[in-house]
Amino acid sequence: MAYHSGFGHTAHLADAVAAGAAEAGARVTHVVLDAITETDWEALDSADAIVFGSPTYMGNVSAGFQAFAEKTGRRCIEGTWRDKVGAGFTNSGAKSGDKLSTLISLAVFAAQHHMHWVNLGLPPGWNSSTADENDLNRLGFWLGAGAQTDVDADPARVHPSDAQTCHHLGHRVASVTQQMRLGRQLTAAASTPAASSAPVR
Ligand SMILES: Cc1cc2nc3c(=O)[nH]c(=O)nc-3n(C[C@H](O)[C@H](O)[C@H](O)COP(=O)(O)O)c2cc1C
Repeated sequence: MAYHSGFGHTAHLADAVAAGAAEAGARVTHVVLDAITETDWEALDSADAIVFGSPTYMGNVSAGFQAFAEKTGRRCIEGTWRDKVGAGFTNSGAKSGDKLSTLISLAVFAAQHHMHWVNLGLPPGWNSSTADENDLNRLGFWLGAGAQTDVDADPARVHPSDAQTCHHLGHRVASVTQQMRLGRQLTAAASTPAASSAPVR
C-alpha cells in the first residue's frame, strides 16, 4: 500500500485497508510516500497489488502523492508494474470535496502503469429514507473508497463507516489478487512486458 497523508487522516484509513487485506490473507507493506526508501520501492516493484491512497487537496491528489507518481516515470515506460492489481482511496474535509477527481487520478495513474483496477464493489449507502450514515459506502462511491473527515478532527476520529469501507476495499483487493495469482498458474498474464510501450530490447 502506498499513501500520502498530511495530517494523519488518510494514514488512519490506510490502516483499515491494510487490516482488510490482511484478513483476506495478504502480506501488507505500508509505503509512506513522503518518507519512501529504496526498500519501499523494491516492495512496490515486487508486490502483486498496490492500493494507492491520497488526501484530496485542491480537488485532486496531494502534491505529496503526485511527487511520488512523477518519480515512477521510468517504471511506467518499462512496464515494471504491468498487470499488478491496483485500487485507491481518498479522504476529504467536505462531504463531497470534489474527491471523485482524486479517485479518477489514482485510477488513471494505475492505468498508465497497465495495472488492473479494482473498484469498490459496494452499493451506495445512506441514500434512502431508511438508510443511515453508518452504512458502508455512506458517501456513495464506486471507483474506490471515498471518506470524509472533519478538518479539525483527530486522525483516530475518522468516520467508522469510512474505516469499514476501506477495510472492505482492502479485503476485496486481496481476494481479487489471490484469484489472479491462481489464474496465472493456468494462463499467462493478460499481456507481457514486450507488449508495453517500452522499446523491446
Ligand atoms: C492544501 C489543502 C487542500 C485541501 N483541499 C480540499 C479539497 O479540495 N476538498 C476538500 O473537501 N477538502 C480539502 N482539504 C481538506 C483535507 O482533504 C482534509 O483535511 C483531509 O482530512 C486531510 O487528510 P490527511 O490528514 O490525510 O492529509 C484540503 C486540505 C489542504 C491542506
